[in-house]
Amino acid sequence: MKLAILSRNSKLYSTRRLVEAAREHGHSARVLDPLRCYMRIASGSFQMHYMGKPIKGYDAVIPRIGSSVTRYGTAVLRQFEMMGTYTPNPSDAILRARDKLRAHQLLAAQGIDLPITVFGDNPDDTVDLLSMLGPPPHVIKLNEGAQGAGVMLTEKPSASRSVIEALRGLYANFVVQEFIAEAQGADLRCFVVGGKVIASMRRQAPEGDFRSNLHRGGTAEPVESTEEERAVAVRAAQVLGLGVAGVDLIRSQRGPLVLEVNSTPGLEGIEGVGGVDVAGAVVEHIAEAAACSG
Ligand SMILES: Nc1ncnc2c1ncn2[C@@H]1O[C@H](COP(=O)(O)OP(=O)(O)OP(=O)(O)O)[C@@H](O)[C@H]1O
Ligand SMILES: [Mg+2]
Repeated sequence: MKLAILSRNSKLYSTRRLVEAAREHGHSARVLDPLRCYMRIASGSFQMHYMGKPIKGYDAVIPRIGSSVTRYGTAVLRQFEMMGTYTPNPSDAILRARDKLRAHQLLAAQGIDLPITVFGDNPDDTVDLLSMLGPPPHVIKLNEGAQGAGVMLTEKPSASRSVIEALRGLYANFVVQEFIAEAQGADLRCFVVGGKVIASMRRQAPEGDFRSNLHRGGTAEPVESTEEERAVAVRAAQVLGLGVAGVDLIRSQRGPLVLEVNSTPGLEGIEGVGGVDVAGAVVEHIAEAAACSG
């Protein structure tokens, strides 16, 4: 198989591991910077060049598109799709996952449970919006936030209202959720490849925080996910149309809740914790699927 990896930086752990795994399995792999791919679109004809030369003959492409280049990166990926190259994560699926409100709506519509979430636009509606959610504690999340920054916990209605007012003043987009206290600062990352959870890890928030992000001092350890958790993770990836996904779950009294579905999950944490060859599993899955589709 001739494999392309769309990534801005070939030195990143995940990118390096995918190249390494592809070569170990006897495939050729090349990292392409999506911002250096340029395209020609004509009726029924799609071409792409990279540093003066045509891109052709790729059997599969793995998108590792950062959120700052979502728009251009997914356009490049779509061009690959139009040229007949297989991808486990199509451009439309990445766009569905990146738009958190849309992803929540699509998951909920398929009966996948998530923390109850409200959002609104007009400040005049804040009081009623919060009444649709129920009493605090509330978790307020900036839509643009990542790695736990921009995720806040409010314990009183007045605190929820004033945080919301402040965010509105900054023209920030956010959602408000019920706080799942029984998770006790832990969440579960399930790494889904081709309809199976191949590795999972539990992340625990540091003492005094409820956010388990590793960037916020959280710690990761291998964990045995339950059959129900694996089924929810697989279903969430499937609903969004992702062949490779990192599904974050939180354990609640009413069962596993989906927090987020990541279309470009990092490999470093999950390979480091569990010793699973995640890159190898991704490459093997893609080689099989590309052979079937091609
Ligand atoms: N509704 C909730 N109840 C309890 N804890 C929560 C809730 N939402 C989030 N958390 C905790 O806060 C952490 C960060 O939240 P979340 O993953 O939604 O945001 P993020 O990591 O900043 O964004 P992203 O995952 O999109 O990069 C979660 O990993 C989880 O530990
Ligand atoms: Mg997160």
